Amino acid sequence: MSTLRVLTGITTTGTPHLGNYVGAIRPAIRASQAAGTDSFYFLADYHALIKTDDPQRIQRSTLEIAATWLAGGLDPERVTFYRQSDIPEIPELTWFLTCVTGKGILNRAHAYKAAVDRNAATGAEPDHDVTAGLFMYPVLMGADILMFNAHKVPVGRDQVQHIEMARDMAQRFNHAYGEHFVLPEAAVEEDVALLPGLDGRKMSKSYDNTIPLFAPREQMRKLIAGIVTDSRGPGEPKDTEGSALFQIYQAFAEPAETDAFRRAFEGGISWADAKQALFERIDREVGPMRATYQRCIDDPASVERVLLAGAQKARRTASPFIATLRHAVGLRPLGAQVQAAKPAKAAKAALPAFKQYREADGLFYFKLVDAGGALLLQSQGFASPKDAGQAIAQLTRDGAAGLTALAAQLARTEPGAAAALAQLAAPKADNGSVAGEEDPGSAVEPQA
Ligand code: TRP
Repeated sequence: MSTLRVLTGITTTGTPHLGNYVGAIRPAIRASQAAGTDSFYFLADYHALIKTDDPQRIQRSTLEIAATWLAGGLDPERVTFYRQSDIPEIPELTWFLTCVTGKGILNRAHAYKAAVDRNAATGAEPDHDVTAGLFMYPVLMGADILMFNAHKVPVGRDQVQHIEMARDMAQRFNHAYGEHFVLPEAAVEEDVALLPGLDGRKMSKSYDNTIPLFAPREQMRKLIAGIVTDSRGPGEPKDTEGSALFQIYQAFAEPAETDAFRRAFEGGISWADAKQALFERIDREVGPMRATYQRCIDDPASVERVLLAGAQKARRTASPFIATLRHAVGLRPLGAQVQAAKPAKAAKAALPAFKQYREADGLFYFKLVDAGGALLLQSQGFASPKDAGQAIAQLTRDGAAGLTALAAQLARTEPGAAAALAQLAAPKADNGSVAGEEDPGSAVEPQA
Protein backbone atom coordinates (compact mmCIF):
# COMPACT_ATOMS: atom_id res chain seq x y z
CA MET A 1 0.00 0.00 0.00
CA SER A 2 1.51 3.27 -0.94
CA THR A 3 -0.02 6.61 -0.05
CA LEU A 4 0.50 9.69 -2.09
CA ARG A 5 1.71 12.58 -0.01
CA VAL A 6 0.32 15.89 -1.20
CA LEU A 7 1.51 19.17 0.28
CA THR A 8 0.76 22.80 -0.32
CA GLY A 9 1.09 26.10 1.49
CA ILE A 10 -0.48 29.54 1.37
CA THR A 11 1.47 32.65 2.19
CA THR A 12 -0.21 34.57 5.01
CA THR A 13 -0.25 38.08 3.66
CA GLY A 14 -3.81 38.64 2.51
CA THR A 15 -7.50 37.99 2.90
CA PRO A 16 -8.70 34.96 0.90
CA HIS A 17 -10.67 35.99 -2.15
CA LEU A 18 -12.84 34.14 -4.64
CA GLY A 19 -9.81 33.50 -6.85
CA ASN A 20 -7.87 31.80 -4.03
CA TYR A 21 -10.93 29.76 -3.16
CA VAL A 22 -11.68 28.52 -6.65
CA GLY A 23 -8.06 28.12 -7.75
CA ALA A 24 -6.44 26.62 -4.67
CA ILE A 25 -8.50 26.15 -1.53
CA ARG A 26 -11.53 24.34 -2.92
CA PRO A 27 -9.55 21.88 -5.10
CA ALA A 28 -7.16 21.19 -2.22
CA ILE A 29 -9.99 20.43 0.20
CA ARG A 30 -11.63 18.15 -2.36
CA ALA A 31 -8.35 16.36 -3.04
CA SER A 32 -7.80 15.85 0.68
CA GLN A 33 -11.03 13.88 0.83
CA ALA A 34 -9.82 11.32 -1.73
CA ALA A 35 -8.74 7.92 -0.49
CA GLY A 36 -5.07 7.01 -0.58
CA THR A 37 -3.76 10.53 -0.06
CA ASP A 38 -1.98 11.92 2.92
CA SER A 39 -2.38 15.68 2.73
CA PHE A 40 -0.28 18.41 4.31
CA TYR A 41 -1.64 21.95 4.26
CA PHE A 42 0.12 24.78 5.93
CA LEU A 43 0.14 28.51 6.49
CA ALA A 44 3.40 29.81 5.06
CA ASP A 45 4.03 32.56 7.57
CA TYR A 46 7.83 32.49 7.28
CA HIS A 47 7.25 33.25 3.60
CA ALA A 48 4.98 36.13 4.59
CA LEU A 49 7.95 37.84 6.26
CA ILE A 50 9.57 38.10 2.85
CA LYS A 51 6.58 40.00 1.49
CA THR A 52 5.53 42.31 4.29
CA ASP A 53 6.90 43.94 7.42
CA ASP A 54 3.44 44.48 8.89
CA PRO A 55 3.10 42.12 11.88
CA GLN A 56 -0.61 42.81 12.29
CA ARG A 57 -1.27 41.90 8.72
CA ILE A 58 0.51 38.55 9.05
CA GLN A 59 -1.35 37.65 12.22
CA ARG A 60 -4.71 38.66 10.79
CA SER A 61 -4.09 36.87 7.52
CA THR A 62 -3.00 33.70 9.32
CA LEU A 63 -6.29 33.66 11.20
CA GLU A 64 -8.36 34.44 8.11
CA ILE A 65 -6.70 31.81 5.94
CA ALA A 66 -6.91 29.14 8.64
CA ALA A 67 -10.57 30.02 9.23
CA THR A 68 -11.21 29.76 5.49
CA TRP A 69 -9.72 26.29 5.22
CA LEU A 70 -11.72 25.10 8.21
CA ALA A 71 -14.93 26.72 6.98
CA GLY A 72 -14.34 25.15 3.55
CA GLY A 73 -14.47 21.71 5.11
CA LEU A 74 -10.85 20.82 5.71
CA ASP A 75 -10.78 18.08 8.32
CA PRO A 76 -7.73 18.59 10.56
CA GLU A 77 -8.12 15.06 11.90
CA ARG A 78 -7.73 13.62 8.44
CA VAL A 79 -5.02 15.91 7.07
CA THR A 80 -1.99 17.51 8.65
CA PHE A 81 -2.86 21.20 8.97
CA TYR A 82 -0.21 23.43 10.53
CA ARG A 83 1.57 26.73 10.60
CA GLN A 84 5.05 26.75 9.10
CA SER A 85 6.59 28.72 11.97
CA ASP A 86 5.52 26.06 14.47
CA ILE A 87 7.93 23.62 12.84
CA PRO A 88 11.50 24.59 13.82
CA GLU A 89 12.82 21.71 11.71
CA ILE A 90 11.89 23.70 8.59
CA PRO A 91 14.39 26.54 9.06
CA GLU A 92 17.00 23.97 10.02
CA LEU A 93 16.39 22.05 6.83
CA THR A 94 16.44 25.35 4.94
CA TRP A 95 20.05 25.74 6.00
CA PHE A 96 21.00 22.21 4.92
CA LEU A 97 19.43 22.88 1.53
CA THR A 98 21.04 26.31 1.29
CA CYS A 99 24.37 24.54 1.45
CA VAL A 100 23.63 22.32 -1.55
CA THR A 101 21.86 24.91 -3.69
CA GLY A 102 23.83 26.64 -6.42
CA LYS A 103 23.67 30.41 -6.12
CA GLY A 104 23.38 30.54 -9.89
CA ILE A 105 20.14 28.59 -9.74
CA LEU A 106 18.65 31.11 -7.34
CA ASN A 107 19.80 33.92 -9.63
CA ARG A 108 17.42 32.48 -12.20
CA ALA A 109 14.33 32.36 -9.99
CA HIS A 110 11.47 34.33 -11.61
CA ALA A 111 10.66 36.55 -8.64
CA TYR A 112 14.28 37.53 -8.09
CA LYS A 113 14.91 38.07 -11.81
CA ALA A 114 11.82 40.23 -12.07
CA ALA A 115 13.15 42.44 -9.27
CA VAL A 116 16.53 42.73 -10.99
CA ASP A 117 14.86 43.55 -14.31
CA ARG A 118 12.77 46.27 -12.67
CA ASN A 119 15.93 47.79 -11.26
CA ALA A 120 17.62 47.63 -14.65
CA ALA A 121 14.63 49.44 -16.16
CA THR A 122 14.93 52.29 -13.67
CA GLY A 123 18.72 52.39 -13.77
CA ALA A 124 19.05 51.29 -10.13
CA GLU A 125 21.64 48.88 -8.75
CA PRO A 126 20.67 45.32 -9.77
CA ASP A 127 19.92 44.25 -6.18
CA HIS A 128 18.38 47.50 -5.07
CA ASP A 129 15.59 46.78 -2.56
CA VAL A 130 16.08 43.02 -2.87
CA THR A 131 16.35 41.25 0.47
CA ALA A 132 18.28 38.05 0.95
CA GLY A 133 14.89 36.66 2.01
CA LEU A 134 13.48 37.18 -1.46
CA PHE A 135 16.57 35.61 -2.96
CA MET A 136 16.28 32.60 -0.63
CA TYR A 137 12.52 32.19 -1.04
CA PRO A 138 12.84 29.04 -3.18
CA VAL A 139 15.07 27.33 -0.61
CA LEU A 140 12.60 27.88 2.22
CA MET A 141 9.92 26.52 -0.07
CA GLY A 142 12.13 23.54 -0.90
CA ALA A 143 12.44 22.82 2.83
CA ASP A 144 8.64 22.98 3.23
CA ILE A 145 8.25 20.32 0.60
CA LEU A 146 11.21 18.04 1.32
CA MET A 147 10.62 18.08 5.09
CA PHE A 148 7.60 15.83 4.54
CA ASN A 149 8.85 14.08 1.44
CA ALA A 150 5.83 15.22 -0.53
CA HIS A 151 5.25 13.50 -3.87
CA LYS A 152 2.82 16.05 -5.30
CA VAL A 153 2.66 19.77 -4.77
CA PRO A 154 -0.48 21.48 -6.11
CA VAL A 155 0.48 25.00 -7.13
CA GLY A 156 -0.32 27.67 -9.64
CA ARG A 157 1.71 27.96 -12.81
CA ASP A 158 3.84 30.73 -11.37
CA GLN A 159 5.17 28.33 -8.73
CA VAL A 160 6.23 25.45 -10.97
CA GLN A 161 9.80 26.71 -11.18
CA HIS A 162 10.03 26.55 -7.39
CA ILE A 163 9.06 22.88 -7.38
CA GLU A 164 11.68 22.18 -10.01
CA MET A 165 14.22 23.88 -7.79
CA ALA A 166 13.10 21.74 -4.84
CA ARG A 167 13.68 18.64 -6.99
CA ASP A 168 17.13 19.89 -7.80
CA MET A 169 17.90 20.44 -4.12
CA ALA A 170 16.64 16.95 -3.29
CA GLN A 171 18.82 15.45 -5.99
CA ARG A 172 21.91 17.30 -4.90
CA PHE A 173 21.38 16.41 -1.27
CA ASN A 174 20.72 12.75 -2.08
CA HIS A 175 23.81 12.64 -4.22
CA ALA A 176 25.99 14.03 -1.45
CA TYR A 177 24.48 12.28 1.58
CA GLY A 178 22.42 9.27 0.46
CA GLU A 179 18.83 8.79 -0.61
CA HIS A 180 16.88 10.84 1.92
CA PHE A 181 14.44 12.77 -0.22
CA VAL A 182 11.63 11.91 -2.57
CA LEU A 183 11.77 14.04 -5.72
CA PRO A 184 8.61 16.18 -5.64
CA GLU A 185 6.44 17.03 -8.63
CA ALA A 186 4.29 20.06 -9.28
CA ALA A 187 0.60 19.35 -9.82
CA VAL A 188 -0.91 22.17 -11.84
CA GLU A 189 -4.64 21.71 -12.17
CA GLU A 190 -5.39 22.40 -15.79
CA ASP A 191 -9.12 22.70 -15.45
CA VAL A 192 -9.41 25.03 -12.47
CA ALA A 193 -10.41 28.47 -13.51
CA LEU A 194 -8.02 31.36 -13.35
CA LEU A 195 -10.64 33.70 -12.04
CA PRO A 196 -10.89 37.19 -13.48
CA GLY A 197 -11.30 40.05 -11.02
CA LEU A 198 -13.60 43.07 -10.96
CA ASP A 199 -11.74 44.71 -13.85
CA GLY A 200 -11.47 41.58 -15.99
CA ARG A 201 -7.77 41.02 -15.31
CA LYS A 202 -6.71 38.00 -13.24
CA MET A 203 -8.16 38.32 -9.72
CA SER A 204 -5.18 39.26 -7.62
CA LYS A 205 -4.40 41.32 -4.60
CA SER A 206 -1.73 43.15 -6.56
CA TYR A 207 -4.37 44.46 -9.02
CA ASP A 208 -6.71 45.44 -6.21
CA ASN A 209 -9.58 43.80 -8.07
CA THR A 210 -10.53 41.03 -5.68
CA ILE A 211 -13.79 39.94 -4.10
CA PRO A 212 -13.10 38.68 -0.56
CA LEU A 213 -14.57 35.22 -0.11
CA PHE A 214 -16.21 36.15 3.17
CA ALA A 215 -17.13 39.73 2.44
CA PRO A 216 -20.40 40.48 4.27
CA ARG A 217 -23.36 39.70 1.99
CA GLU A 218 -24.24 43.28 1.19
CA GLN A 219 -20.64 44.16 0.44
CA MET A 220 -20.36 41.07 -1.75
CA ARG A 221 -23.47 42.19 -3.65
CA LYS A 222 -21.98 45.67 -4.16
CA LEU A 223 -18.65 44.31 -5.33
CA ILE A 224 -20.36 42.02 -7.82
CA ALA A 225 -22.36 44.98 -9.08
CA GLY A 226 -19.01 46.61 -9.84
CA ILE A 227 -17.73 43.88 -12.19
CA VAL A 228 -16.94 45.42 -15.58
CA THR A 229 -19.34 44.65 -18.43
CA ASP A 230 -19.90 46.12 -21.84
CA SER A 231 -22.62 48.68 -22.49
CA ARG A 232 -25.26 46.40 -24.01
CA GLY A 233 -28.71 47.06 -22.66
CA PRO A 234 -31.47 44.68 -21.53
CA GLY A 235 -32.79 42.56 -24.40
CA GLU A 236 -29.54 42.70 -26.36
CA PRO A 237 -27.73 39.34 -26.68
CA LYS A 238 -24.47 39.29 -24.72
CA ASP A 239 -21.12 37.59 -25.27
CA THR A 240 -20.10 34.98 -22.75
CA GLU A 241 -16.63 34.94 -24.30
CA GLY A 242 -14.42 37.40 -22.43
CA SER A 243 -17.10 38.18 -19.87
CA ALA A 244 -15.63 38.23 -16.36
CA LEU A 245 -19.12 37.86 -14.94
CA PHE A 246 -19.75 34.70 -16.93
CA GLN A 247 -16.38 33.19 -16.06
CA ILE A 248 -16.86 33.72 -12.35
CA TYR A 249 -20.32 32.18 -12.59
CA GLN A 250 -18.92 29.18 -14.40
CA ALA A 251 -16.33 28.61 -11.65
CA PHE A 252 -19.15 28.12 -9.14
CA ALA A 253 -21.90 26.52 -11.20
CA GLU A 254 -22.60 22.99 -12.36
CA PRO A 255 -22.31 22.51 -16.15
CA ALA A 256 -26.11 22.50 -16.56
CA GLU A 257 -26.44 25.80 -14.71
CA THR A 258 -23.68 27.27 -16.83
CA ASP A 259 -25.53 26.20 -19.99
CA ALA A 260 -28.69 27.89 -18.77
CA PHE A 261 -26.73 31.03 -17.97
CA ARG A 262 -25.21 30.99 -21.46
CA ARG A 263 -28.69 30.82 -22.96
CA ALA A 264 -29.75 33.73 -20.77
CA PHE A 265 -26.84 35.73 -22.17
CA GLU A 266 -27.92 34.87 -25.71
CA GLY A 267 -31.48 35.77 -24.78
CA GLY A 268 -30.46 39.27 -23.69
CA ILE A 269 -30.54 39.05 -19.87
CA SER A 270 -29.83 42.49 -18.37
CA TRP A 271 -26.49 42.99 -16.67
CA ALA A 272 -28.32 43.79 -13.45
CA ASP A 273 -30.13 40.45 -13.53
CA ALA A 274 -26.97 38.61 -14.51
CA LYS A 275 -25.17 40.15 -11.54
CA GLN A 276 -27.98 39.17 -9.22
CA ALA A 277 -27.81 35.60 -10.53
CA LEU A 278 -24.06 35.52 -9.93
CA PHE A 279 -24.48 36.88 -6.42
CA GLU A 280 -27.06 34.21 -5.62
CA ARG A 281 -24.94 31.42 -7.07
CA ILE A 282 -21.87 32.40 -5.07
CA ASP A 283 -23.92 32.92 -1.94
CA ARG A 284 -25.36 29.42 -2.29
CA GLU A 285 -21.86 27.97 -1.95
CA VAL A 286 -20.31 30.48 0.44
CA GLY A 287 -23.35 31.11 2.64
CA PRO A 288 -23.25 27.76 4.46
CA MET A 289 -19.56 28.25 5.25
CA ARG A 290 -20.03 31.68 6.79
CA ALA A 291 -21.07 30.51 10.24
CA THR A 292 -17.94 28.37 10.70
CA TYR A 293 -15.75 31.15 9.35
CA GLN A 294 -17.25 33.68 11.75
CA ARG A 295 -16.97 31.30 14.68
CA CYS A 296 -13.23 30.93 13.98
CA ILE A 297 -12.70 34.66 13.59
CA ASP A 298 -14.55 35.34 16.84
CA ASP A 299 -12.62 32.65 18.72
CA PRO A 300 -9.01 32.76 17.49
CA ALA A 301 -7.90 30.63 20.43
CA SER A 302 -9.85 27.70 18.98
CA VAL A 303 -7.98 28.06 15.69
CA GLU A 304 -4.71 28.32 17.59
CA ARG A 305 -5.48 24.99 19.26
CA VAL A 306 -6.16 23.33 15.93
CA LEU A 307 -2.89 24.64 14.50
CA LEU A 308 -0.84 23.58 17.50
CA ALA A 309 -2.30 20.08 17.34
CA GLY A 310 -1.43 20.05 13.64
CA ALA A 311 2.12 21.14 14.37
CA GLN A 312 2.48 18.36 16.90
CA LYS A 313 1.34 15.85 14.31
CA ALA A 314 3.67 17.29 11.66
CA ARG A 315 6.62 17.20 14.03
CA ARG A 316 6.13 13.52 14.67
CA THR A 317 7.48 13.17 11.13
CA ALA A 318 9.76 16.19 10.99
CA SER A 319 11.66 15.66 14.18
CA PRO A 320 13.01 12.12 13.62
CA PHE A 321 13.66 13.00 9.99
CA ILE A 322 15.76 16.03 10.83
CA ALA A 323 17.70 13.83 13.29
CA THR A 324 18.52 11.49 10.41
CA LEU A 325 19.51 14.41 8.21
CA ARG A 326 21.68 15.98 10.89
CA HIS A 327 23.49 12.71 11.18
CA ALA A 328 23.78 12.36 7.44
CA VAL A 329 25.50 15.72 7.00
CA GLY A 330 27.86 15.13 9.90
CA LEU A 331 26.22 16.99 12.79
CA ARG A 332 26.80 14.09 15.13
CA PRO A 333 27.46 13.41 18.78
CA LEU A 334 31.21 13.38 19.19
CA GLY A 335 31.32 10.30 21.36
CA ALA A 336 30.24 8.01 18.56
CA GLN A 337 33.15 8.06 16.17
CA VAL A 338 35.85 10.67 16.18
CA GLN A 339 38.26 10.53 13.31
CA ALA A 340 41.44 12.39 12.66
CA ALA A 341 40.54 14.71 9.84
CA LYS A 342 43.19 13.86 7.27
CA PRO A 343 43.51 10.07 7.30
CA ALA A 344 39.77 9.76 7.54
CA LYS A 345 39.36 11.29 4.12
CA ALA A 346 41.76 8.86 2.55
CA ALA A 347 40.27 5.92 4.42
CA LYS A 348 36.75 6.90 3.46
CA ALA A 349 37.55 6.70 -0.20
CA ALA A 350 38.71 3.11 0.09
CA LEU A 351 36.17 1.72 2.55
CA PRO A 352 32.66 0.36 2.20
CA ALA A 353 30.02 2.56 3.77
CA PHE A 354 26.54 2.42 5.20
CA LYS A 355 23.96 4.75 3.75
CA GLN A 356 20.72 5.51 5.54
CA TYR A 357 17.66 6.81 3.80
CA ARG A 358 13.93 7.02 3.98
CA GLU A 359 11.52 5.60 1.44
CA ALA A 360 8.13 6.75 0.27
CA ASP A 361 6.56 4.19 2.64
CA GLY A 362 7.80 6.32 5.56
CA LEU A 363 10.19 3.64 6.83
CA PHE A 364 13.93 3.96 7.40
CA TYR A 365 16.35 1.85 5.42
CA PHE A 366 20.03 1.42 5.07
CA LYS A 367 22.34 -0.19 2.61
CA LEU A 368 26.00 -1.09 2.60
CA VAL A 369 27.92 -0.22 -0.53
CA ASP A 370 31.53 -0.94 -1.36
CA ALA A 371 34.09 1.75 -2.11
CA GLY A 372 33.02 1.72 -5.74
CA GLY A 373 29.36 2.14 -4.82
CA ALA A 374 28.24 -1.46 -5.55
CA LEU A 375 25.48 -2.75 -3.30
CA LEU A 376 26.57 -5.30 -0.68
CA LEU A 377 23.60 -5.34 1.63
CA GLN A 378 20.13 -3.88 1.74
CA SER A 379 17.89 -3.68 4.81
CA GLN A 380 14.18 -4.05 5.27
CA GLY A 381 12.31 -0.96 6.49
CA PHE A 382 12.66 0.14 10.13
CA ALA A 383 10.12 2.17 12.05
CA SER A 384 12.63 4.76 13.22
CA PRO A 385 16.08 6.01 12.26
CA LYS A 386 17.25 4.90 15.67
CA ASP A 387 16.22 1.28 15.01
CA ALA A 388 18.03 1.38 11.68
CA GLY A 389 21.05 2.94 13.39
CA GLN A 390 21.15 0.22 16.00
CA ALA A 391 21.06 -2.49 13.36
CA ILE A 392 23.97 -0.80 11.60
CA ALA A 393 25.85 -0.58 14.88
CA GLN A 394 25.26 -4.28 15.50
CA LEU A 395 26.45 -5.25 12.03
CA THR A 396 29.53 -3.09 12.34
CA ARG A 397 30.33 -4.63 15.71
CA ASP A 398 29.53 -8.26 15.05
CA GLY A 399 30.38 -8.65 11.37
CA ALA A 400 29.35 -12.04 9.93
CA ALA A 401 27.66 -13.02 13.20
CA GLY A 402 25.60 -9.85 12.95
CA LEU A 403 24.52 -10.83 9.45
CA THR A 404 23.13 -14.07 10.78
CA ALA A 405 21.51 -12.46 13.81
CA LEU A 406 19.83 -9.77 11.74
CA ALA A 407 18.97 -11.93 8.71
CA ALA A 408 15.23 -11.31 9.11
CA GLN A 409 15.76 -7.57 8.80
CA LEU A 410 17.86 -7.73 5.68
CA ALA A 411 16.26 -7.75 2.27
CA ARG A 412 19.41 -8.61 0.36
CA THR A 413 22.93 -9.75 1.23
CA GLU A 414 25.64 -10.03 -1.40
CA PRO A 415 28.64 -12.36 -1.07
CA GLY A 416 31.10 -9.56 -0.24
CA ALA A 417 29.06 -8.24 2.70
CA ALA A 418 30.77 -10.15 5.51
CA ALA A 419 34.25 -9.17 4.35
CA ALA A 420 33.19 -5.57 4.05
CA LEU A 421 31.84 -5.61 7.59
CA ALA A 422 35.10 -7.05 8.84
CA GLN A 423 36.87 -4.17 7.16
CA LEU A 424 34.57 -1.73 8.93
CA ALA A 425 35.08 -3.35 12.31
CA ALA A 426 38.78 -2.57 12.17
CA PRO A 427 39.47 -0.03 14.89
CA LYS A 428 39.47 3.65 14.00
CA ALA A 429 38.29 3.10 10.48
CA ASP A 430 36.12 5.84 9.06
CA ASN A 431 33.17 3.77 8.15
CA GLY A 432 30.40 6.32 8.22
CA SER A 433 28.44 3.97 10.42
CA VAL A 434 25.79 5.02 12.84
CA ALA A 435 25.77 4.44 16.55
CA GLY A 436 22.61 4.45 18.63
CA GLU A 437 22.41 8.13 19.56
CA GLU A 438 22.07 7.81 23.31
CA ASP A 439 24.81 5.25 23.49
CA PRO A 440 27.67 6.67 21.51
CA GLY A 441 30.22 4.13 22.65
CA SER A 442 28.41 1.05 21.41
CA ALA A 443 29.64 1.06 17.84
CA VAL A 444 33.30 1.08 18.72
CA GLU A 445 33.42 -0.92 21.93
CA PRO A 446 33.40 -4.60 21.06
CA GLN A 447 31.25 -6.43 23.56
CA ALA A 448 32.58 -9.43 25.38
N1 TRP B 1 5.11 30.13 -2.60
C1 TRP B 1 3.75 29.68 -2.52
C2 TRP B 1 2.83 30.77 -3.09
O1 TRP B 1 3.17 31.94 -3.03
C3 TRP B 1 3.37 29.37 -1.10
C4 TRP B 1 4.21 28.25 -0.57
C5 TRP B 1 5.20 28.34 0.36
C6 TRP B 1 4.13 26.89 -0.98
N2 TRP B 1 5.75 27.10 0.56
C7 TRP B 1 5.13 26.22 -0.24
C8 TRP B 1 3.35 26.20 -1.90
C9 TRP B 1 5.36 24.83 -0.42
C10 TRP B 1 3.57 24.84 -2.06
C11 TRP B 1 4.56 24.16 -1.34
O2 TRP B 1 1.80 30.43 -3.59
